[in-house]
Amino acid sequence: MASRIYKWLDSRLNLKSVERTLLDEPIPGGASWIYVFGSVTLFLFLMQAITGMFLALYYAPTPDHAYDSLRFIETEVLFGAFVRGLHHWGASAMVVAIGLHMLQTFLYGAYKPPREAMWMAGVVLFLLVMVFAFTGYLLPWDQTAYWATQIGINMVGTVPVIGDFMMRVLRGGETLGALTLSRFFAMHVLFLPSLLLLLIGLHLFILRRVGPAGPWTDARASLDSETFHPRQVYMDAVVIFGVFAVVAAAALAIPFPLTDKADPSDTSFVPVPEWYFLFYYELLKYVHGPFEPLATWILPVLVIGIMLFWPFIDRNPARNPIRRPVALGAGVVFLVVVLSLLGLSIKNLYAVPRADPAVVRGKALYAEFGCAGCHRIHGEGGAVAPDLSFVGDTRPDREWHVKHFKDPQSVSAGSFMPKFPLNDQQLADLTSYMLSLKKVP
Ligand code: HEC
Repeated sequence: MASRIYKWLDSRLNLKSVERTLLDEPIPGGASWIYVFGSVTLFLFLMQAITGMFLALYYAPTPDHAYDSLRFIETEVLFGAFVRGLHHWGASAMVVAIGLHMLQTFLYGAYKPPREAMWMAGVVLFLLVMVFAFTGYLLPWDQTAYWATQIGINMVGTVPVIGDFMMRVLRGGETLGALTLSRFFAMHVLFLPSLLLLLIGLHLFILRRVGPAGPWTDARASLDSETFHPRQVYMDAVVIFGVFAVVAAAALAIPFPLTDKADPSDTSFVPVPEWYFLFYYELLKYVHGPFEPLATWILPVLVIGIMLFWPFIDRNPARNPIRRPVALGAGVVFLVVVLSLLGLSIKNLYAVPRADPAVVRGKALYAEFGCAGCHRIHGEGGAVAPDLSFVGDTRPDREWHVKHFKDPQSVSAGSFMPKFPLNDQQLADLTSYMLSLKKVP
């Protein structure tokens, strides 16, 4: 049946030749597992596009509704949390995939003539992916989203002459608000996808005109050439399947909770950016005062410029890494700096005192006694009693808590909080947990 339909279509649309063009692309030196990252990136882009479309069914891009629409997706929509998880971890996976793809291209010297334009289109694609990540981060409109974006936009403001203007364009006004959210949303779902598709088209068009670079030694490359189909298609498919399995497992197993709804008046909130911006966030910490512009825009512009024009900077015709010590050295230094900054940043983030066992026990008691039935912490729980997200800041007194737990009415007349049967140990643990709930741990 299927083959008859295919024959019918083929006789009219001449599909055979399309199939040829798609699958018979010769790969010098033959298929290899190292070539899979381009396809993986493309797959992840398609996954982001599809999960994004489904998220857009429920998402409302206004400050009043964005946060609640996400909570709704998380808690009410069938597979909502899973689709949001796929989209969230898919973005991370895409950054990794595109990074590995660039690393492979760099190592193999595949950006050298005649493939300079393909490399440049690739760098623009990489930048677009980063802008995707940046614009997407604001959309949940929670505290992290709001304050991380504030930092990003403020950095743009440090660019001389045009900084103020660009800041106003990004925000759609003087402050980060409703217009900023619409702007970021439109960028994220309309402008960027169109641009990205265009550049993917260009990238692949150039690839088909100049062909893949293959191994770095001409001798090996000319030895055996094989077509994209079937072995490379098979390798790409295997890795794509593996990547999907990992992203799906992350989406199922690692919760990605919202922080509290964005509160523009709460300037004390310390946001943490996504891990792929962490190295940069760390760098910003070390550069102060008159040197600040160095980190906020001079260095980024320089690095992007060097990346973009790298095929013209590196004039060494050799592709074998052994004969390219300068390029390889530059690449290694760049990677070491970025990864060290990333490592340092993660270390600092986790340097906040390791969870105190009393706090851990207190947290378990909090769950056991159903405190969340009345109280809310970071958006989770009931709303009939005070929000406890930062009760460690507002009520820093241990004695007060102990007294309050023993008999709520004694310190808070008319309180309807029940007296819980707590022994001394439990009282101490629960109090430790309460005191740990602070804005800055
Ligand atoms: C039936 C609803 C209810 C339950 C269940 C409940 N509380 Fe409360 N809680 C209240 C109310 C109402 C207040 C405000 C009046 C007061 O201070 O007692 C309050 C106040 C508090 C405060 C002081 C908050 C502030 O900012 O002043 C803390 C701390 C607290 N509760 C912790 C807990 C813990 C821990 C549990 C679980 C062991 C719990 N509550 C269970 C209703 C409840």
